[in-house]
Amino acid sequence: MSEAKRLAGEKAIEYVDDGMIVGVGTGSTVAFFIDALARIKDRIRGAVSSSEQSTQRLRMHGIEVLDLNATGPLSLYVDGADECDPHKRLIKGGGAALTREKIIAEASEKFVCIIDPAKRVDVLGKFPLPVEVIPMARSLVARQILAKTGGQPVWRDGVVTDNDNLILDVHNLSIVDPVAVEAAINQIPGVVSVGLFARRPADVVIVGGEPPLVL
Ligand code: 5RP
Repeated sequence: MSEAKRLAGEKAIEYVDDGMIVGVGTGSTVAFFIDALARIKDRIRGAVSSSEQSTQRLRMHGIEVLDLNATGPLSLYVDGADECDPHKRLIKGGGAALTREKIIAEASEKFVCIIDPAKRVDVLGKFPLPVEVIPMARSLVARQILAKTGGQPVWRDGVVTDNDNLILDVHNLSIVDPVAVEAAINQIPGVVSVGLFARRPADVVIVGGEPPLVL
């Protein structure tokens, strides 16, 4: 599967134009994209990173990491996903970086999602849906998610996000209306963000393979 991830990451380089500041996601597929980006680093102005993990890898390659407040809107965001449906709506947050990922996706004109074939699903929800919560609201949010969605929230024990918050993973969902579920979970006080990218889906999905499939 890592070969498929590498092929997807390498293909995404075709979307990088000279002089760009590139939004960069998080995860093992994105790591391949960052390594490929390093080969053309003299052609770009820098990157906006969605996590400490990606920041470290970008800096290791000598790619400048910039603050989104200073760059303004971005032309391109490249990130992975845990699940992707036929409408390019995603579940993300397996790496607990969903909030910053969502911010950069929103700030970007084009969101290119890079996945291996196993991430493609007809209906989202088999992968437990990550929700970032303020620590004091953990139990409140879990009760409300259960009541509103019927899903089973499980605290991702031992994980603290880059924003010092916690993650609930919601199991046993079949998300037939991802836009509605995203909105409903977002409204619970204490939710920082939910790992459903439905209101703002990907624009392009690259499925790694020989050759890569571009959707
Ligand atoms: C991190 C994410 C990742 O994009 C997602 O978990 C996919 O990771 P990988 O490329 O390692 O399979 O959303 O929060």
